[in-house]
This record gives sequence, C-alpha cells and structure tokens, in this order.
Amino acid sequence: MEMCMLVWVFSGILAATLLSPCSVALTLDGITLLEIKSTLNDSRNLLSNWIDSDESPCKWTGISCHNYDQRVRSINLPYMQLGGVISPSIGKLNRLQRLALHQNSLHGIIPNEITNCTELRALYLRANYLQGGIPSDLGNLSFLTILDLSSNLLKGAIPSSIGRLKRLQFLNLSTNFFSGEIPDIGVLSTFGNNSFIGNLDLCGQQVHKPCRTSLGFPAVLPHAESDEAAVPSKRSSHYIKGVLIGAMATMGLALVMLLTFLWVCFLSKKERAAKKYTEVKKQVVQEASTKLITFHGDLPYPSCEIIEKLESLDAEDVVGSGGFGTVYRMVMNDCGTFAVKRIDRSREGSDQVFERELEILGSIKHINLVNLRGYCRLPITKLLIYDYVALGSLDDFLHEHEQEERSLNWSARLRIALGSARGLAYLHHDCCPRIVHRDIKSSNILLDENLEPHVSDFGLAKLLVDEDAHVTTVVAGTFGYLAPEYLQSGRATEKSDVYSFGVLLLELVTGKRPTDPSFVKRGLNVVGWMNTLLRENRLVDVVDKRCTDADVETVEAILDIAGRCTDANPDDRPSMNQVLQLLEQEVMSPCPSDFYESHSDYC
Ligand SMILES: *[C@@H]1O[C@H](CO)[C@@H](O)[C@H](O)[C@H]1NC(C)=O
Ligand SMILES: *[C@@H]1O[C@H](CO)[C@@H](O)[C@H](O)[C@H]1NC(C)=O
Ligand SMILES: *[C@@H]1O[C@H](CO)[C@@H](O)[C@H](O)[C@H]1NC(C)=O
Ligand SMILES: *[C@@H]1O[C@H](CO)[C@@H](O)[C@H](O)[C@H]1NC(C)=O
Ligand SMILES: *[C@@H]1O[C@H](CO)[C@@H](O)[C@H](O)[C@H]1NC(C)=O
Repeated sequence: MEMCMLVWVFSGILAATLLSPCSVALTLDGITLLEIKSTLNDSRNLLSNWIDSDESPCKWTGISCHNYDQRVRSINLPYMQLGGVISPSIGKLNRLQRLALHQNSLHGIIPNEITNCTELRALYLRANYLQGGIPSDLGNLSFLTILDLSSNLLKGAIPSSIGRLKRLQFLNLSTNFFSGEIPDIGVLSTFGNNSFIGNLDLCGQQVHKPCRTSLGFPAVLPHAESDEAAVPSKRSSHYIKGVLIGAMATMGLALVMLLTFLWVCFLSKKERAAKKYTEVKKQVVQEASTKLITFHGDLPYPSCEIIEKLESLDAEDVVGSGGFGTVYRMVMNDCGTFAVKRIDRSREGSDQVFERELEILGSIKHINLVNLRGYCRLPITKLLIYDYVALGSLDDFLHEHEQEERSLNWSARLRIALGSARGLAYLHHDCCPRIVHRDIKSSNILLDENLEPHVSDFGLAKLLVDEDAHVTTVVAGTFGYLAPEYLQSGRATEKSDVYSFGVLLLELVTGKRPTDPSFVKRGLNVVGWMNTLLRENRLVDVVDKRCTDADVETVEAILDIAGRCTDANPDDRPSMNQVLQLLEQEVMSPCPSDFYESHSDYC
C-alpha cells in the first residue's frame, strides 16, 4: 500500500516535471506575433490561426521561419484589409528579414523599434494610411534592399541615413507628404523622380527641382516644375498648396472609392459566374447514331460543320496523346481552332450518366481552366471538344525544349504556379459539387500565348476510369505525382491533389521530372531528394540553372509551400485556397535578388 502510494507520488512528480515545460510552449517570437496581432484590426478574421495554444508560429497565416532555429523570418500579410497600427513589439523579431504589410488599412506611425530588426531586407508598407515620419535611424538596417513606403500619409524630411543603405535597390516614397530637400548622399543620389512622385514639397536633383537658396529666394529654372504637372508655375503660395493638398486628398478618396467599386463589381461578377454554373445552357443535336452537345453556346458553328470537321480528323491533325486518348487540332472554316480529344476508353455505365457528368464539366468556366466546349458521339468514337491552348503543355516546355528562347524564367514559373493554383482552387472550393482533379501533372498544365496556365483534363479520371482499377491503370508518367495515401487506397481526395500540386511546384523549381533518373537511381522521389538537399543546405543546387532571375527569397518561399503540400500526412497539408493565398503573398510582393551576391558560384 505504502509502496503503491510512493510510486504514485513519484510518477506524479515525474509527470509534472516532464509535462509542465511542454504545455506552455509557444515560442517568444510567437508571443511577440500575438502582441502584434492585438493592435491590428483583423476584421475579416484572416489571422484566426494565430493562437497561443500552438507551439510554433511557423505555420500561421503569413509567417515563415528560418529553417533551423524556427525564428520568424518573414511576415507576409499584404491585401488583407488589416486595420489598426503596427505594434512597437515588431522590434523583438530581430531575425525578421521581410515585412510585407502593403495594401492594408494600417494607420499610426512606423514604430522606431523597427530599426531593431537588423536583418531586415525588405520592407513593404505601400498603400496604407501611415502617418508621421520615417524613423531617422532606418539607415542602420544595413541589409535593407527594398523600401516601399509609397501611398501613405507620411510627412517630414527624408532622413539622410537612408543614403547609407548600400544594398538598397528599390526605393519608393511616392505619393506621401514628404517635404524638404532630398539628401544627395550615398545611395539616395542614385534614385530618380520615380521614387518620389507626388510629394509636392520635395526638392533636390532627384526630382529636377532646385531647392530655395540659402538666401530664401526660390531659384526657378525654366523646367523646374515640369515634374509635377499639377503645380501652377511661379505662384506657389501657401493657399494654392493647401488647395492642392485638398485636391490630392479628394483624388485619393475618389481612387479609393473607384477601387472599392471595382472590387464590388468583381465580387458580383464572381457571384454571377457561380450562378451561371447551375443553369447550364446546352444545345443538343441528335441524328441516328451521332449526337452533338455544345455547352453554353460555346461553339457558334452550324452543327453540320462541326460534325463534318470532327469526322475528317486524321493522323495529320494529331497534336498529342493524353492519358485518355489522342488529341487533335480542329480548324474551322473561319480559322477558329479547337482541341479535340478522342476517348479511347471509358468505364462501364450508361451514356446518360456520362453525358450528365460531362455537362457539369462543361459548365465550369475559369480563366485558368481549359474550357470544355462540347461533346460528340460518333458511331465509333466519343470526342470532347476543348479550347485550343496555343503553346502546349508545361511538361514540353520544361523538359522537351532545350533551346534558350523557349525556356521559362523564374518569374514566368511563379506566374504559372499561381495561375494553376487558381484553377485548382476554383475546382476544389468554388464548384458545386467540388471537383477533385486526380491527375495533376505538368502535362496537364497548358500554356497560352502569354504563358498563362490552363489546367486541363479535370474530372476526366473520375469519368473514364473505374474506381478500383484507377491507380493501376494510370499512365506511368503520373506516378511521381501521386500522394502516398492515394497510391495505397486508390481514393483521390482534394488533399491528394494538393500533394500533386506540391510536386508540380518542385518540378517548376528544379526543372526536373518527379521521375528523373538522377534521384530514382538513389531510391528517392523528387520530394525525398529535395528534403535530402535541403537538410544539407544546398539551396542553389536545387534551382533549375535556366532560372537566372531566381532570387533566394521566393525560391525558399516556394520550396516551403511545396514542402507543406507534400506533407506525408494529408491532414497537415494546406487546402488549395490556402496554397493560393500563400502563393499570392509571394508573387505579389516580389523581392529582387541578392542571390548572386551570396552565391556567386551559381551558374
Ligand atoms: C475594425 O474594422 C471594422 C471594419 O473595418 C470597424 O467596423 C471596427 O470599428 C474596427 N474596430 C476597431 C477597434 O477599430
Ligand atoms: C532589440 O533587440 C534586442 C536583442 O537583439 C532585444 O533584447 C531588445 O528587447 C529589442 N528591443 C526592442 C525595443 O524591441
Ligand atoms: C544607429 O546607428 C547610430 C550610429 O551608427 C547609433 O548611434 C544609433 O544608436 C543606432 N540606432 C539604433 C536604433 O540602433
Ligand atoms: C512608386 O509608386 C508610384 C505610385 O504607386 C508609382 O507610380 C511609381 O512608378 C513607383 N516607382 C517605382 C520606382 O516603382
Ligand atoms: C523623370 O525624369 C526623367 C529624366 O530623368 C524625365 O524624362 C521624366 O519625364 C521625369 N518624369 C516625371 C514624372 O517627372
């Protein structure tokens, strides 16, 4: 009895000592972020996953961390409609490299404490309502490469310390109320009028506007005021200045209202698009054993012309072969061009069910999805009629074309990632019923003349392949993209699509197929290979050598997103909407490179 008691007490003490430090484990950076959140007005509740019961803030919306010590490396919260002020606590995040809060509704001042973030490289505060001046010691942030404070209500002089920022490559102080002479010092003398537009009271050589001489006379040169068309020449009395500032404010207000109006239009358009989705307009032409269905009046040709063209497709018109059959190019009499997919196989089941499901696919319209325009059943085959996407597949671009002029640079790849994510997020979140693609891979991403991506073949896997047989019948090229649980169970989910999308991101970064011999030989897939390299910290080895414009920040960010998408546990993967949001944060706040400085042996 006593023994039992003793053991019980002992294990109680043990449990207390072991458990208590773990149960209150949010890192100091996490606590700091919560302080920062507390002064923000997050009216849309976008920061709802910033919670103090987490151990680490690294997966919170907009946050990314340094790989090794889990300190906060970047805060990316642009376009979030955040109100409130920037907390002085920001100074405690002294490993912060990037602070992107542009396009919000922040007010208050830029806290002086920001100069404590000595590793800061990029500061984006554009398009808020920030007041006060620029902290005079901002010039202590010797790594600062990007400083964008444009379109705020900032005033006062431009501190000369900014001239000390040797690495500064981008500066924008436009459309504020700065005044006085722009110091002609250091790097500050290298920026032109584009960095200072719309600050009526600034002068200096950068804006081609001489300052008043020391005697107090305005020294007016003939072209002095041509920089600001709004300044009436010579008579620059205070009264007129006041009027001008008022006019500027009015214009600013008008702009805000215009933007709001556009935003509302955009929203209601989206709503309308969603409504359209439910009322599929279709036109059916049926004669004997031939049946033509066109969706949404999307194929404005006489049905006899369409059927005639379809019947005459032959080997010369073949442009490729997809997983489900041969793809042809069909050119109409007026030169309108379409892609026609001949279905080589289909699963058992009635034509009616098949056609009903096709109708759903035909009703899905999105800029980043390949539009299904019609379906035709001929006596011996079934044909699907799609938009023709001019430049072919991403797979061809990345792997078949060695010529320089067709290779995709980094910014093109970012846009492709973003557009593909938009298309997929639309399938997952905006379609009803939701659509799982099941077969995301680079050969199903088609590029148009502007290199805008269009996701193709969505929904076909479900339509054409028997559920149980699917995984064993998928074409070999797909294997590297499939999530482990999908390979095991054969059940596709939105999260297995997210995994495939993560592999696609890795393919964009590395320029290598997931089945590339260099890692298959070592028993790794692209995900395993990536993890091995990153553990050895060889980021430069990972990036496709053709991406000469890649910068270390976005590469890291994209790898980070890819890593989350390919998490072995489907529940830990983000949803496609979250992926889209993460990508938008990266692509909308690009950061020029200091990649070459730190890794000059690259290329
Ligand atoms: C937060 O923003 C909302 C809408 O933008 C506003 O109605 C509310 O008053 C704000 N709250 C605070 C505390 O400023
Ligand atoms: C500045 O950073 C130091 C650590 O480098 C920290 O101890 C200090 O509290 C920070 N100051 C402010 C005002 O955040
Ligand atoms: C910035 O640097 C100056 C001189 O180099 C120093 O006196 C000042 O204290 C620094 N300010 C901050 C906030 O670190
Ligand atoms: C700075 O911002 C203004 C206003 O948004 C813009 O017109 C200007 O082109 C920008 N300057 C640079 C150098 O990007
Ligand atoms: C800016 O300066 C350039 C010359 O450096 C000039 O051609 C251009 O018109 C100026 N732009 C504005 C908006 O003043």
